[in-house]
Amino acid sequence: MAQKIILDCDPGVDDALAIAFAIACPDIDLVGITTVAGNVGLDKTTANALRVVEFLGADVPVTAGSAAPLLRQPMPAGHVHGEDGLGGAALPPPTAGPRPGHAIDFITDTVLAAPGEVTLVATGPLTNIALALSRERRLPGSVSDFVIMGGSASRGNVTPAAEFNIAADPEAAAVVFAAGWTVTMVGLDVTLQALADRPVLARIGQLGRLADELVLPCLRGYSDGGPAHSGRRGRAGDGTPVHDVCAVAYVAVPSLLGCLPARVEVETAGRWTSGMTVTDFRVPPEACNALIATAIDVPGFWDTVLACYADIARALG
Ligand code: RIB
Ligand code: CA
Repeated sequence: MAQKIILDCDPGVDDALAIAFAIACPDIDLVGITTVAGNVGLDKTTANALRVVEFLGADVPVTAGSAAPLLRQPMPAGHVHGEDGLGGAALPPPTAGPRPGHAIDFITDTVLAAPGEVTLVATGPLTNIALALSRERRLPGSVSDFVIMGGSASRGNVTPAAEFNIAADPEAAAVVFAAGWTVTMVGLDVTLQALADRPVLARIGQLGRLADELVLPCLRGYSDGGPAHSGRRGRAGDGTPVHDVCAVAYVAVPSLLGCLPARVEVETAGRWTSGMTVTDFRVPPEACNALIATAIDVPGFWDTVLACYADIARALG
């Protein structure tokens, strides 16, 4: 039975690749996409989600969410994802708009209509999730699981301490980690290992229109050089991270990641450390609020992703 998921995201190149994987993967039932401002503004993240869904010929509702963090100013990353947010992919503009309504209502209504059946996956700033939690206290107890791409136990990428999704809205992340559920945190500790390097790009290159019109141009226009969001292009020998795909792949094949329980507190006040996911592995089980991904089966990850991409590539031609 495929796992139902809602993907809350900020497309963004790696979010787009995560959407493609979720649509392609037979072990995932993508029941909806919700969008949030993050890599680029909400208008663009929403249009990008619609563009990818239409390109893939999928029937997945897209509902727009928050246009700004809870308290802070947006910190767009057009220098990383390209000004339109899809790197170099020139997908046509969407023919349809997003569903009416707000993302937080879609999330709460969909999860509460099927208690224990829907996994919530967030691959952007956690603004929508925090607002949904404030709207519906039953949310943590009603999801099948809650998985994020975000944070890190060891490093940052927008600062030495903070990863982008957390740094963009630390107050929202603090609410999310304090909500009483267990957050599976797929952070930089593992996502910076699963790089689209030359051998992977060569395998992607066999995937027809999916490669030529989406995946390869996305990656070519994506300047995530890895540990520091410095705008450096991924060095040829290193490859390019696809952070968000790791979080969705975990839902499909949990054995791809090794996770350890921990307590995570989000720094919201530090002059140098704002947005840091302060991770304590030493706490007793009852104090844990997170499962931290600390290991990844990189060959297994790419075999899984590329097998699913190959399926949808055959349908695209
Ligand atoms: O730090 C990487 C994360 O920030 C990814 O989700 C990327 O899309 C950006 O949102
Ligand atoms: Ca993202």
